[in-house]
Amino acid sequence: MNSLASASSVLRLGLHVLAATVWVGGQFVMAGLVPALRTLDPNAPRVAAQRFARLSWPAFWLLIATGVWSYAAVHGNTTSSAWNTAFALKMGAVVLSGVGAFLHTRATTPKSRGIWAGVSALASVGALLLGVALAG
Ligand code: HEM
Repeated sequence: MNSLASASSVLRLGLHVLAATVWVGGQFVMAGLVPALRTLDPNAPRVAAQRFARLSWPAFWLLIATGVWSYAAVHGNTTSSAWNTAFALKMGAVVLSGVGAFLHTRATTPKSRGIWAGVSALASVGALLLGVALAG
């Protein structure tokens, strides 16, 4: 019989998942909107991306903060090597998604901007799936 999560788990995981919806979901929404924005004004994608960055980076830091909280909250009960391997892989995906997103914002050619956006989005989805696996 499934029991309800405690209030602190609801807050911790709720904030973690909310931040993931902005960081991961936001990247895909932006990718979907850019072609339409470009038809309005060649500068519109850059202006929208700058606004998105004001939401996405705070969401990334919230993921880190609630992630550390989650690690502290659950790692004690979970000593399986599979869990630890999944956690290590997830940390790699998190770093890749953050570095990819940063290099995307610093890219000087459309090609490198596209490549780093792809790296960030795929690594973010990897972190999300590994997160669900960790939650068990
Ligand atoms: C791109 C960044 C990240 C994304 C997209 C992400 C996403 C997720 C998702 C979707 C879950 C599953 C929640 C659930 O099923 O209820 C989760 C769980 C978890 N995440 Fe993250 N996460 C990220 C970063 C981090 C970081 C940086 C850490 C640790 C420092 C972390 C530690 C955890 C832990 C320990 C769990 C399991 C929580 C539990 O079992 O209660 N996450 N994550």
